[in-house]
Amino acid sequence: MADSHNPIVRGAKVWLRRFEKDDIAEYKRAVNDAYIAHWAGYVYPQNDVMAESFFERRASGDEYFFVISPLGGTDFLGTIWLWNIGGRLGGAELSMFIVEAENRGKGFGTDAINAMLDFAFGNLEHHRVWLTTLASNEPAHRAFERAGFTKEGVVRGHYLRHGERCDSVQMSILRPDWQALERSRSWDYTQLT
Ligand SMILES: CC(C)(COP(=O)(O)OP(=O)(O)OC[C@H]1O[C@@H](n2cnc3c(N)ncnc32)[C@H](O)[C@@H]1OP(=O)(O)O)[C@@H](O)C(=O)NCCC(=O)NCCS
Repeated sequence: MADSHNPIVRGAKVWLRRFEKDDIAEYKRAVNDAYIAHWAGYVYPQNDVMAESFFERRASGDEYFFVISPLGGTDFLGTIWLWNIGGRLGGAELSMFIVEAENRGKGFGTDAINAMLDFAFGNLEHHRVWLTTLASNEPAHRAFERAGFTKEGVVRGHYLRHGERCDSVQMSILRPDWQALERSRSWDYTQLT
Protein backbone atom coordinates (compact mmCIF):
# COMPACT_ATOMS: atom_id res chain seq x y z
CA MET A 1 0.00 0.00 0.00
CA ALA A 2 1.44 3.37 -1.00
CA ASP A 3 2.27 5.82 1.77
CA SER A 4 2.00 9.04 -0.15
CA HIS A 5 3.41 12.34 1.05
CA ASN A 6 2.31 14.19 -2.09
CA PRO A 7 -1.08 12.66 -2.72
CA ILE A 8 -3.29 13.39 -5.72
CA VAL A 9 -6.48 13.98 -3.74
CA ARG A 10 -6.08 15.62 -0.36
CA GLY A 11 -7.34 18.20 2.07
CA ALA A 12 -5.60 20.07 4.88
CA LYS A 13 -5.67 17.09 7.28
CA VAL A 14 -6.45 13.96 5.28
CA TRP A 15 -5.83 12.40 1.90
CA LEU A 16 -8.01 10.05 -0.11
CA ARG A 17 -6.54 6.82 -1.37
CA ARG A 18 -8.04 3.96 -3.32
CA PHE A 19 -9.63 1.26 -1.23
CA GLU A 20 -7.42 -1.87 -1.34
CA LYS A 21 -8.18 -5.53 -0.60
CA ASP A 22 -6.19 -5.08 2.63
CA ASP A 23 -8.83 -2.58 3.76
CA ILE A 24 -11.74 -5.03 3.59
CA ALA A 25 -11.32 -6.20 7.21
CA GLU A 26 -11.42 -2.60 8.53
CA TYR A 27 -14.42 -1.86 6.34
CA LYS A 28 -16.26 -4.94 7.59
CA ARG A 29 -15.51 -4.07 11.21
CA ALA A 30 -16.76 -0.51 10.64
CA VAL A 31 -20.04 -1.38 8.98
CA ASN A 32 -20.84 -3.95 11.68
CA ASP A 33 -20.65 -1.19 14.30
CA ALA A 34 -24.18 -0.17 15.31
CA TYR A 35 -23.44 3.59 15.11
CA ILE A 36 -22.06 3.45 11.56
CA ALA A 37 -24.73 0.95 10.53
CA HIS A 38 -27.51 3.20 11.81
CA TRP A 39 -26.35 6.51 10.37
CA ALA A 40 -24.74 5.29 7.16
CA GLY A 41 -27.54 2.88 6.30
CA TYR A 42 -26.12 -0.62 6.77
CA VAL A 43 -29.29 -2.25 8.02
CA TYR A 44 -28.04 -5.81 8.49
CA PRO A 45 -24.73 -7.41 9.61
CA GLN A 46 -22.16 -8.02 6.89
CA ASN A 47 -19.89 -11.04 6.47
CA ASP A 48 -16.65 -11.47 4.52
CA VAL A 49 -18.44 -12.40 1.29
CA MET A 50 -20.62 -9.29 1.41
CA ALA A 51 -17.72 -6.99 2.25
CA GLU A 52 -15.59 -8.48 -0.54
CA SER A 53 -18.42 -8.25 -3.04
CA PHE A 54 -18.96 -4.61 -2.07
CA PHE A 55 -15.27 -4.00 -2.73
CA GLU A 56 -15.37 -5.80 -6.10
CA ARG A 57 -18.37 -3.75 -7.24
CA ARG A 58 -16.80 -0.48 -6.23
CA ALA A 59 -13.27 -1.31 -7.45
CA SER A 60 -14.18 -1.31 -11.11
CA GLY A 61 -16.05 1.03 -13.42
CA ASP A 62 -16.61 4.69 -12.83
CA GLU A 63 -17.18 4.63 -9.07
CA TYR A 64 -14.58 6.12 -6.76
CA PHE A 65 -14.34 4.31 -3.47
CA PHE A 66 -11.69 5.99 -1.33
CA VAL A 67 -10.26 5.46 2.13
CA ILE A 68 -9.78 8.56 4.26
CA SER A 69 -6.27 8.48 5.73
CA PRO A 70 -4.32 11.02 7.80
CA LEU A 71 -1.70 12.93 5.84
CA GLY A 72 1.57 11.00 5.79
CA GLY A 73 -0.03 7.70 6.84
CA THR A 74 -2.40 5.01 5.66
CA ASP A 75 -4.57 4.48 8.73
CA PHE A 76 -8.20 3.75 7.92
CA LEU A 77 -10.02 6.78 9.37
CA GLY A 78 -13.08 6.09 7.24
CA THR A 79 -14.35 5.91 3.70
CA ILE A 80 -15.85 8.32 1.20
CA TRP A 81 -17.15 7.35 -2.17
CA LEU A 82 -18.85 8.62 -5.31
CA TRP A 83 -21.30 6.19 -6.83
CA ASN A 84 -24.71 5.97 -8.49
CA ILE A 85 -23.16 7.94 -11.34
CA GLY A 86 -25.62 9.47 -13.78
CA GLY A 87 -28.68 7.91 -12.14
CA ARG A 88 -32.15 9.43 -12.09
CA LEU A 89 -31.02 12.21 -9.74
CA GLY A 90 -28.07 13.09 -11.98
CA GLY A 91 -24.41 13.61 -11.15
CA ALA A 92 -22.92 11.39 -8.48
CA GLU A 93 -24.06 10.28 -5.04
CA LEU A 94 -21.65 10.71 -2.15
CA SER A 95 -21.51 8.43 0.89
CA MET A 96 -19.05 8.35 3.78
CA PHE A 97 -18.28 7.47 7.35
CA ILE A 98 -15.59 8.11 9.93
CA VAL A 99 -15.10 4.91 11.91
CA GLU A 100 -14.02 5.80 15.43
CA ALA A 101 -16.02 8.11 17.71
CA GLU A 102 -12.76 9.73 18.87
CA ASN A 103 -12.06 10.80 15.26
CA ARG A 104 -15.48 12.31 14.66
CA GLY A 105 -16.16 16.01 15.28
CA LYS A 106 -12.54 16.95 14.59
CA GLY A 107 -13.02 18.20 11.06
CA PHE A 108 -11.74 15.07 9.27
CA GLY A 109 -15.14 14.54 7.69
CA THR A 110 -15.46 18.07 6.30
CA ASP A 111 -11.87 17.96 5.07
CA ALA A 112 -12.53 14.66 3.26
CA ILE A 113 -15.73 16.06 1.70
CA ASN A 114 -13.81 19.11 0.47
CA ALA A 115 -11.16 16.88 -1.09
CA MET A 116 -13.78 14.67 -2.73
CA LEU A 117 -15.63 17.68 -4.15
CA ASP A 118 -12.39 19.04 -5.59
CA PHE A 119 -11.91 15.65 -7.22
CA ALA A 120 -15.52 15.43 -8.48
CA PHE A 121 -15.64 18.96 -9.90
CA GLY A 122 -11.94 19.56 -10.60
CA ASN A 123 -10.90 16.21 -12.11
CA LEU A 124 -14.23 14.77 -13.27
CA GLU A 125 -17.02 16.34 -15.28
CA HIS A 126 -19.76 16.17 -12.67
CA HIS A 127 -22.27 18.99 -12.43
CA ARG A 128 -23.94 17.81 -9.25
CA VAL A 129 -22.96 15.79 -6.17
CA TRP A 130 -25.74 14.73 -3.83
CA LEU A 131 -26.58 12.54 -0.91
CA THR A 132 -29.45 11.40 1.22
CA THR A 133 -29.16 11.06 4.97
CA LEU A 134 -31.46 10.72 7.96
CA ALA A 135 -33.25 13.96 8.86
CA SER A 136 -31.93 13.48 12.42
CA ASN A 137 -28.28 13.14 11.33
CA GLU A 138 -27.15 16.55 12.57
CA PRO A 139 -23.39 15.90 12.45
CA ALA A 140 -23.73 14.97 8.77
CA HIS A 141 -25.88 18.02 8.00
CA ARG A 142 -23.29 20.24 9.71
CA ALA A 143 -20.33 18.73 7.88
CA PHE A 144 -22.00 18.77 4.46
CA GLU A 145 -23.39 22.29 4.83
CA ARG A 146 -19.96 23.52 5.92
CA ALA A 147 -18.55 21.96 2.75
CA GLY A 148 -21.09 23.88 0.63
CA PHE A 149 -24.06 21.51 0.33
CA THR A 150 -27.65 22.79 0.41
CA LYS A 151 -30.65 20.94 1.78
CA GLU A 152 -32.99 20.29 -1.15
CA GLY A 153 -35.88 18.70 0.61
CA VAL A 154 -37.28 16.04 2.85
CA VAL A 155 -38.19 12.54 1.72
CA ARG A 156 -40.91 11.52 4.14
CA GLY A 157 -40.84 8.06 5.69
CA HIS A 158 -37.82 7.14 3.56
CA TYR A 159 -35.93 4.80 5.88
CA LEU A 160 -36.97 2.19 8.41
CA ARG A 161 -34.94 2.37 11.61
CA HIS A 162 -35.68 0.51 14.83
CA GLY A 163 -39.26 -0.16 13.80
CA GLU A 164 -40.11 3.39 12.74
CA ARG A 165 -40.28 5.13 9.40
CA CYS A 166 -37.84 8.05 9.39
CA ASP A 167 -37.61 11.08 7.13
CA SER A 168 -34.46 11.71 5.16
CA VAL A 169 -32.95 14.92 3.88
CA GLN A 170 -31.57 15.22 0.39
CA MET A 171 -28.61 17.53 -0.02
CA SER A 172 -26.61 18.61 -3.02
CA ILE A 173 -23.87 20.86 -4.28
CA LEU A 174 -23.73 22.04 -7.88
CA ARG A 175 -20.61 22.96 -9.80
CA PRO A 176 -21.29 26.74 -9.56
CA ASP A 177 -21.74 26.39 -5.77
CA TRP A 178 -18.35 24.68 -5.57
CA GLN A 179 -16.75 27.28 -7.83
CA ALA A 180 -17.97 30.05 -5.51
CA LEU A 181 -16.37 28.50 -2.40
CA GLU A 182 -13.54 30.58 -1.03
CA ARG A 183 -11.17 27.95 0.29
CA SER A 184 -7.97 26.21 -0.78
CA ARG A 185 -8.43 23.38 -3.28
CA SER A 186 -6.91 19.93 -3.13
CA TRP A 187 -4.30 20.88 -5.72
CA ASP A 188 -3.23 24.00 -3.81
CA TYR A 189 -1.54 21.65 -1.34
CA THR A 190 0.28 19.46 -3.87
CA GLN A 191 3.84 19.85 -5.08
CA LEU A 192 4.12 19.86 -8.87
CA THR A 193 7.76 20.86 -9.23
C1 LIG B 1 -21.10 12.48 9.16
C2 LIG B 1 -19.62 12.24 9.48
C3 LIG B 1 -18.96 11.58 8.28
C4 LIG B 1 -18.97 13.60 9.73
O1 LIG B 1 -17.59 13.39 9.97
P1 LIG B 1 -16.82 14.25 11.09
O2 LIG B 1 -15.39 14.00 10.98
O3 LIG B 1 -17.46 14.00 12.42
O4 LIG B 1 -17.20 15.71 10.57
P2 LIG B 1 -16.68 17.13 11.09
O5 LIG B 1 -15.90 16.97 12.36
O6 LIG B 1 -16.01 17.78 9.95
O7 LIG B 1 -18.06 17.89 11.34
C5 LIG B 1 -19.03 17.32 12.18
C6 LIG B 1 -19.93 18.42 12.71
O8 LIG B 1 -20.99 17.86 13.49
C7 LIG B 1 -21.00 18.43 14.77
N1 LIG B 1 -21.55 17.45 15.69
C8 LIG B 1 -20.95 16.38 16.21
N2 LIG B 1 -21.83 15.72 16.99
C9 LIG B 1 -23.01 16.40 16.91
C10 LIG B 1 -24.29 16.22 17.45
N3 LIG B 1 -24.55 15.17 18.26
N4 LIG B 1 -25.27 17.08 17.14
C11 LIG B 1 -25.03 18.13 16.33
N5 LIG B 1 -23.82 18.37 15.76
C12 LIG B 1 -22.83 17.49 16.05
C13 LIG B 1 -19.57 18.80 15.02
O9 LIG B 1 -19.45 19.76 16.04
C14 LIG B 1 -19.19 19.34 13.66
O10 LIG B 1 -19.74 20.62 13.40
P3 LIG B 1 -18.95 21.97 13.69
O11 LIG B 1 -17.53 21.75 13.26
O12 LIG B 1 -19.67 22.98 12.88
O13 LIG B 1 -19.00 22.18 15.14
C15 LIG B 1 -19.43 11.36 10.76
O14 LIG B 1 -20.11 11.96 11.84
C16 LIG B 1 -19.90 9.94 10.56
O15 LIG B 1 -19.15 9.09 10.14
N6 LIG B 1 -21.19 9.65 10.92
C17 LIG B 1 -21.72 8.31 10.77
C18 LIG B 1 -21.98 7.94 9.31
C19 LIG B 1 -22.79 8.99 8.60
O16 LIG B 1 -23.67 9.61 9.16
N7 LIG B 1 -22.48 9.21 7.31
C20 LIG B 1 -23.13 10.23 6.51
C21 LIG B 1 -24.22 9.65 5.75
S1 LIG B 1 -23.87 9.83 4.03
